[in-house]
Amino acid sequence: MIYTVTLNPSIDYVVRLERFVSGITNRTTNEEYYIGGKGINVSCVLSELGIQSTALGFTAGFTGEAIENGLQKMGICSEFIRLKDGISRINLKIKADKESEINTQGPYISDSEFGQLLLKTEKITDGDTIVLAGSIPKAVSDNAYEQILQRLEGKDVRIVVDATEKLLLNCMPYRPFLIKPNRQELSEIFRKEMATEQDIRNSAFVLRELGARNVLVSLGGEGAVLFAEDGNIYHSNVLKEKVINTVGAGDSMIAGFIAGYEKTKDYRYALRLGSACGNATAFSSGLAQKEKIFAVLQKLT
Ligand SMILES: Nc1ncnc2c1ncn2[C@@H]1O[C@H](COP(=O)(O)OP(=O)(O)OP(=O)(O)O)[C@@H](O)[C@H]1O
Ligand SMILES: [Mg+2]
Repeated sequence: MIYTVTLNPSIDYVVRLERFVSGITNRTTNEEYYIGGKGINVSCVLSELGIQSTALGFTAGFTGEAIENGLQKMGICSEFIRLKDGISRINLKIKADKESEINTQGPYISDSEFGQLLLKTEKITDGDTIVLAGSIPKAVSDNAYEQILQRLEGKDVRIVVDATEKLLLNCMPYRPFLIKPNRQELSEIFRKEMATEQDIRNSAFVLRELGARNVLVSLGGEGAVLFAEDGNIYHSNVLKEKVINTVGAGDSMIAGFIAGYEKTKDYRYALRLGSACGNATAFSSGLAQKEKIFAVLQKLT
């Protein structure tokens, strides 16, 4: 089983208007909402690829219920810990002449509620995969991911981490199967601009030395490079289609990579399917759906 962890899921409320002016009443021309959070995004795209996963994390209040119901409707299993107080986040994404976002903090998580999540992770066993994705909310200790990974030590679990800076580095001793920094995240880790291919290669090699088994560096519209455990470096490109939304492209890529690797144990194919999912999300208004993913996959070399 693949388990995804989303500590602070959200409902992303995307509103469109021609112009946004602060200090007055603005009226929208269109609005949509999506259930969000990086781990949940991975579960959604896995589901498009026909792979079951279980979404773990925390939900609260009426928005938490909406998140759980939404996932159920999509056929995705979830076992969230329901928090006693507060509501799961509603993040506002304003798409006007410029794009603005208001991201909220999310509910309080007590130590005992976090302990309940740790208990849930105990059933993760040999052959399973765990995806830890996204930042850690203020409400929990910043070593939350390490606490989860410590409990998995000694088990043959594939660990996937998509996080930034110290949060990611602190997971390295647990030998993650996959990490997927983008260019900016690499710059933040190494406090250095990633101007050349050599910069990226050097950084990826350091991350591999620190413990990451596969380092997938995603470069947005420039594609991605995989520094694989087999010692090879694989490249993937992108299709030139109209880009509609790149939010979640990285999460989609992770889902595709995991699915591709599970199916074939072949890094080249895993990268290709990962790329197809990333591309397909960039060319869609929400996350990629299966028709689009497989149409892109056919065209990607
Ligand atoms: N403009 C684009 N055109 C085509 N494909 C894209 C584009 N942007 C992203 N992708 C695809 O998605 C992959 C991951 O994108 P990106 O590097 O933007 O991830 P990210 O920064 O982690 O995104 P997020 O964290 O929002 O999910 C890229 O390697 C590529 O395959
Ligand atoms: Mg990302």
